[in-house]
Amino acid sequence: MSQKNMQPDHMVLTTFMLPAGYHRDAWRRPGSRAEELGNLDFVADLTQMAEEAKLDAVFFGDIVHANNLFRDDIMMNGFYEPISVLSALAARTSNIGLIGTMSTSFAEPYNAARQFAGLDHMSGGRAGWNIVTSKDGFSNFGGGEAPDPVQRYERATEFVDVVTRLWDSWADDAVMADRENGRWVDSARLRRIHHEGRYFTVEGPINMPRPPQGRPVLVQAGSSGPGMDLGSFVADVIYTAQPRKNLAQDFYARMRSLAESRGRKADSVKIIPGILPIIADTVAEAQGLADELAGLLDLDAGRRQIGGDLKIRLDDIGFDEQIPAERFSDDPAMGSRYQIFRRKSVEEGMTLRELIVDRARSTGHMWMVGTADQVAEVMIDWFTSEACDGFNLNSPFNPGGFEAICRKLVPALQERGYFRSEYEGSTLRENLKLDRPSTEWS
Ligand SMILES: Cc1cc2nc3c(=O)[nH]c(=O)nc-3n(C[C@H](O)[C@H](O)[C@H](O)COP(=O)(O)O)c2cc1C
Repeated sequence: MSQKNMQPDHMVLTTFMLPAGYHRDAWRRPGSRAEELGNLDFVADLTQMAEEAKLDAVFFGDIVHANNLFRDDIMMNGFYEPISVLSALAARTSNIGLIGTMSTSFAEPYNAARQFAGLDHMSGGRAGWNIVTSKDGFSNFGGGEAPDPVQRYERATEFVDVVTRLWDSWADDAVMADRENGRWVDSARLRRIHHEGRYFTVEGPINMPRPPQGRPVLVQAGSSGPGMDLGSFVADVIYTAQPRKNLAQDFYARMRSLAESRGRKADSVKIIPGILPIIADTVAEAQGLADELAGLLDLDAGRRQIGGDLKIRLDDIGFDEQIPAERFSDDPAMGSRYQIFRRKSVEEGMTLRELIVDRARSTGHMWMVGTADQVAEVMIDWFTSEACDGFNLNSPFNPGGFEAICRKLVPALQERGYFRSEYEGSTLRENLKLDRPSTEWS
């Protein structure tokens, strides 16, 4: 019996905050508050619901470009710029973690260090940074095509190294606030970093004290070779898309042993796949809801989306036919999400219509249709069989789908002892049971 089965420590639960709903076109449902996308009240209501359910964190992805809008897809939109919305949410919440995405391809390490340190200070230690390298949007920043993944991850590695050294450039005890002697800071407890690397030349120290968490929580979400490599060195949390339990178990074992090979403790990295639950009080109602959501999709737009994602010509394929296997590539450079859809089509025999609905539902993450109890049982099975340390909850539609997650699914996990009923700590690191990183100062 594994350690986990003997001591069922609770899961980590975060939510991928997409106010338009994770299911493509879910905004078309009545009551979706679609007119309010971009405003604070809507997203604050969802975040407060998440905090009442005691979720570890809300997570904001970021897509910096508007390309999806030309494909009429607003699901993964950039209406909420992560640092600005999380700063506003910090003022409206008190316990929940605030994780935001920032791309290492478009930002500068000095700015990034200040922004996340500022968020950590102002939220009392609740900030997290999802490190991504981006595949699209380069033309908005004076570039052309995206550089190849090796180059993007090389820049990301140097970027993260500089940011963490800037956070560490103040000793924890540097602030003196000594009124008598008129010394606010002990400048001997600040250090320059003199960084000169391949991509960046940066002086330090940063101009604000070390963040309350020492370092905001670092999150990484790439499942390719270079992505896993970066994650194994730096990430506290790994997000991943795993549609099947056996694949998730394989990823979990590989990721943990990679982290151990870097001299880290395996449980210092929390591995969190996504799940999209479509929940109702009966199985028939849940199926009805899933069918209703699928009925909102424009199949022709779905065909274009799948064709674009997979870089395959599909105009000669009927909706009830399978994509011929030979149209897929085996090249690992196509990315981890590509391999998920190749497997669903070639090995599981999904038709084009099924693939369109599947992609629209969960973009490659696990999805389930059922009662809260049924979904909770599957989540517990994954958790206790070392497929994950918890889940990133993808709400199919808002606000109703998220209400079902917070008020039905989370209580079903709490009743079974697999989720907290009160926050244990005040910082995100404390709630995730992650050590506060020390520095060479102490
Ligand atoms: C849960 C999750 C969230 C992600 N969020 C973003 C995001 O907000 N912005 C982005 O550019 N990429 C995002 N990604 C994409 C990854 O960072 C990465 O680019 C992608 O997984 C492809 O890299 P890979 O082939 O290494 O997996 C996300 C991935 C996952 C699994």
